[in-house]
Amino acid sequence: MDTNEFAVLKLFVVGILVNVWIMRGLSAADSFNIEPTPPQPKKPCNESRLQWEVEVCGEDFKRDMGHIDPQNWCNLTHFISEYHIFTLCTEAKSQIVHCYWPNPLVESYIIRIHKHFFSNCTIEQVVWVDPPDDTLTILILIPVFLTLAMIALVVWCSKRSDILA
Ligand SMILES: *[C@@H]1O[C@H](CO)[C@@H](O)[C@H](O)[C@H]1NC(C)=O
Ligand SMILES: *[C@@H]1O[C@H](CO)[C@@H](O)[C@H](O)[C@H]1NC(C)=O
Ligand SMILES: *[C@@H]1O[C@H](CO)[C@@H](O)[C@H](O)[C@H]1NC(C)=O
Repeated sequence: MDTNEFAVLKLFVVGILVNVWIMRGLSAADSFNIEPTPPQPKKPCNESRLQWEVEVCGEDFKRDMGHIDPQNWCNLTHFISEYHIFTLCTEAKSQIVHCYWPNPLVESYIIRIHKHFFSNCTIEQVVWVDPPDDTLTILILIPVFLTLAMIALVVWCSKRSDILA
């Protein structure tokens, strides 16, 4: 294998590794908060029951937050595990009542919870679990551009070696 081919192969492998790494990062972020559950086609979503179940999750979360000093309510370090449990709870309940997750009802309830606990927090104080849209877009675009760059590079190298040959 000549050095040219070897360099391309190396870049390609690095590209794949970076892709895998980014994708794993993304799916880790997803599973934390927004991984959609598969559709539940058998029974229709019972929204009135979901409303009730989600409020049970909310009451548990309020109780857990009550154990945390309100001074620390803007500090993610202090409530991340409670928040995680709350999110898992809404996901589990949605599945039990045959609803997609996330869904508008759960989302509007989560917004109510946010307003209740985090309305006085500034952006600097709270680092949200969801990356802001810009970050997410960049994270998604990087692998796309890397792949395109790899293809372009391979084409360019093969043309170049044609000329050299
Ligand atoms: C939805 O759940 C409520 C409360 O559990 C129940 O009374 C109602 O019959 C259910 N509706 C449907 C369409 O299953
Ligand atoms: C949040 O709480 C942790 C642990 O008590 C502390 O180390 C950290 O400095 C706090 N962060 C802010 C922004 O107050
Ligand atoms: C936010 O600030 C207002 C006004 O200072 C206060 O009445 C309210 O209780 C605070 N809410 C929280 C969640 O800290």
